Amino acid sequence: MKSKSSAPGKVILFGEHFVVHGIKAVLCAINKRVFVTAEAIDEEKISIKSNIGDLELDKNKNIDEINSPLKPFYFLADKLLKEQSEIEGIKISIKSEIPLGVGLGSSSACCVAGAGAISGLFSEKTKDEILELAIDAEKTIFKNTSGADCTVSTHGGIMVYDKTGFTKIESEPNFQLVISNSNIEHSTEKVVAEVQKFKDKNETEFAELCSKESELIESVLRIFKKNEIKELGEKVIENQKFLEIIGISNDTLREMVKVGNKTSFGSKITGAGGGGCIFSLANEENAEETLKEFKNKNYECFSVKIDFKGLDTF
Ligand code: PMV
Repeated sequence: MKSKSSAPGKVILFGEHFVVHGIKAVLCAINKRVFVTAEAIDEEKISIKSNIGDLELDKNKNIDEINSPLKPFYFLADKLLKEQSEIEGIKISIKSEIPLGVGLGSSSACCVAGAGAISGLFSEKTKDEILELAIDAEKTIFKNTSGADCTVSTHGGIMVYDKTGFTKIESEPNFQLVISNSNIEHSTEKVVAEVQKFKDKNETEFAELCSKESELIESVLRIFKKNEIKELGEKVIENQKFLEIIGISNDTLREMVKVGNKTSFGSKITGAGGGGCIFSLANEENAEETLKEFKNKNYECFSVKIDFKGLDTF
């Protein structure tokens, strides 16, 4: 018996870092996916194959003793095997279109698609039940996850979130995002700690930035209703200025933002910064041209659209 699922990656459109300090953030699912196939096997094993390596272990291992990025898949398979007596073992294979470790939500998409495919071997689960499993699986690698990435990957579309919860934005704008990768590795945890230092040293300035970011998010939510891409681009540019001030940018990212701003409606860092990716807001008229600008400067880049489907089980 086989069960298959796929789930999308994500981009933070507005509000990264400020969200850690209580402001709302807006994120969207993108049409780059992780595909997971789970298969019931007769052997009492959990066997995982992916393009970043393989993992094969007996059941009932202590999850804290497993040192592998594939740990969430083991967690899911082991947990669901324990709850029943019909299936002996599980073979899992993973294929991903999402670049790893650059803030595009690859690990959350793995957890969501993994939870969908593995639970599909047992009983029908609702999207919300799968999401709950996925967040538990993600916690095996990021203990303090807000759950935002898994939520947008499960439900698709655009979402606004803060520490109190998530709301889906119902409009379906048809913009494209040109994503370019600095190929500079970053640690979200470290950059978040640096922003905390900035906040401690510049309390009044940081409080002012938080209230400006909050106003920006409220106007972004109004703009979504009107589907006004130029206005949205202005907000992207404004948000990037705030990210510069709190110190998460660097020369490479600034240069990339400049390249993107030549032809797109606006560019900004997405996610933690310090490295990782930026996006440029575009539509069918300027996406190709924007990609060309990045390619001419030898930046790794690609364009994405919003994914409105989220988790897909088949
Ligand atoms: O690097 P990413 O895409 O995982 O984004 C981190 C976003 C932060 O706001 C910097 C941290 C957080 O937990 O929200």
